[in-house]
Amino acid sequence: MLSLLRFKAFTNYTLALGALALLLGGAVFVRDAAANDDAANYPAASLTAPTGSAALIARGKYLVTAADCEPCHTGPNHAPFTGGLVMKTPYGGLASPNITPDPTTGIGNWTNKQFYDALHYGIAPGRDWLVFPRFLYPAMPYTSYTKLSYADTMAIKAYLDSLKPVRVKPTPSSMMFPFNQRPVLLGWRLLFFRAGPMHMNPAWNEQMKNGAYLTEALGHCQECHTPRNFLSAMIPSKAFAGAPIDAFYAPNISSDKAQGVGGWSRADLVAYLHDGGNLVKGSPYAAMGEMTRHSTSQLPISDDQDIALYLQTATAPQRVTPPAAVSDAAASAARGAVLYSNNCAACHGTQGGGMAPKMVPNLAGNDSVTAAYPYNVIGAVLSGLDAWTDVPMPSFATQLSDQNIADIANYVRTSWGNKGVPNATPGMVAALRKRAGVAEKAK
Ligand code: HEC
Ligand code: HEC
Ligand code: HEC
Repeated sequence: MLSLLRFKAFTNYTLALGALALLLGGAVFVRDAAANDDAANYPAASLTAPTGSAALIARGKYLVTAADCEPCHTGPNHAPFTGGLVMKTPYGGLASPNITPDPTTGIGNWTNKQFYDALHYGIAPGRDWLVFPRFLYPAMPYTSYTKLSYADTMAIKAYLDSLKPVRVKPTPSSMMFPFNQRPVLLGWRLLFFRAGPMHMNPAWNEQMKNGAYLTEALGHCQECHTPRNFLSAMIPSKAFAGAPIDAFYAPNISSDKAQGVGGWSRADLVAYLHDGGNLVKGSPYAAMGEMTRHSTSQLPISDDQDIALYLQTATAPQRVTPPAAVSDAAASAARGAVLYSNNCAACHGTQGGGMAPKMVPNLAGNDSVTAAYPYNVIGAVLSGLDAWTDVPMPSFATQLSDQNIADIANYVRTSWGNKGVPNATPGMVAALRKRAGVAEKAK
């Protein structure tokens, strides 16, 4: 399930700004005059559309995979790309629309310009309150897709147009008033949204440019891995520093050698993105499991090598100060050791080494469990996880108390050479239970 708490707040403050802007001048908003895709800022392949419709559609299909459009636009019991996935936001549910070429319920009648405006500017055809363009919610990650080249955006459209048109009844959204009023997004856009293009260092070679494009524009990696401000906009100066998502935590993947992926071997990082991980760095799971299954593992391995090159050598190193250790850290870890041995060791091993070959991932040396915040251990234990290959991980939500789970997390984060801070508290577990929607065991 892809239920993403990706954008958190269109707070009253945004609303006030939106209303103010309304009073001041109605539909004033800034639009870039035209796409500005110059060779310095893009990998060469993204600047010229392949000739012939088959080649164009093939390029579009590849781009749609790298951008991971399908899982978000395919709800339960829905045909691919017909929408119907309701994304959870604190302001209600937001349903994804049908993007097959059905002329009435899909985007079959959209012009090239309308499609470009949606991906590049986050603006759909139509008007709200008579004068406002129809702003899209940034749950649709146009904040990253805005960096796509014009040629590639059109290739994506060519691929979507080649799909079978499917008529579906649109799934209703349940956004609360006033957040269900799209003009409210105006303030947010004025403050935080800057349309593309990508900016690249002209000295970069094609591999680096390709990695940057895949990471920043297509793979929208920052949407989950970059912390957001109190109005839910990504904080550019903290790119890739790590951020909470659902009951989990998307770790620091900047080039920092201690906290990010700068210290990973290139082979481990490529294995993680392309082959579902290994027994050195663990497996991709939760939202990242979806991302690797549908997107990065389906790309040519050279693309994953380019992403790894970019993350490890071109991103600014980020350091995050983790919350402080709990006051009874040693006692908590000692209780956790017993619980680990009774509940986890059969699968993950007494030394956290996991189970070969790729049956159960290692917890020793696994950076996702020692990240600044302990949410990943807690989230995994609460929600359970899909199988890495054969065995799924069960949920322990009803067997273990909040204190039990915090103790296990503190043990796992500090054992077998792991250098995480033992900062898991029962309060954190209680909060993540709410996000994961699982109750505590009966006392
Ligand atoms: C993280 C989930 C997510 C991903 C990934 C995603 N979308 Fe969306 N998309 C949405 C949601 C949610 C909406 C509805 C936004 C709204 O109503 O404001 C949307 C809206 C749209 C719309 C506007 C349709 C309409 O009828 O208004 C288009 C077009 C679109 N997406 C195309 C794409 C394409 C193409 C991709 C891949 C390049 C993509 N989306 C990837 C979630 C996603
Ligand atoms: C929908 C949200 C989401 C998106 C988009 C996303 N990630 Fe992640 N990522 C996560 C979460 C959650 C985790 C933690 C779970 C795990 O380790 O598998 C994670 C973990 C990782 C890790 C392991 C880090 C560690 O310390 O163990 C790497 C590497 C990574 N992501 C790279 C990427 C790259 C590259 C992209 C873009 C191509 C990307 N992610 C896009 C959510 C996301
Ligand atoms: C039945 C076997 C089994 C048991 C018991 C089990 N796990 Fe897991 N665990 C798995 C599997 C399989 C995965 C990989 C899931 C995936 O990749 O989607 C996993 C993944 C994880 C992860 C994410 C790490 C990664 O890199 O994938 C954490 C954290 C974790 N388990 C912690 C625990 C803890 C703590 C316990 C005890 C409370 C536990 N597990 C009990 C099988 C198990």
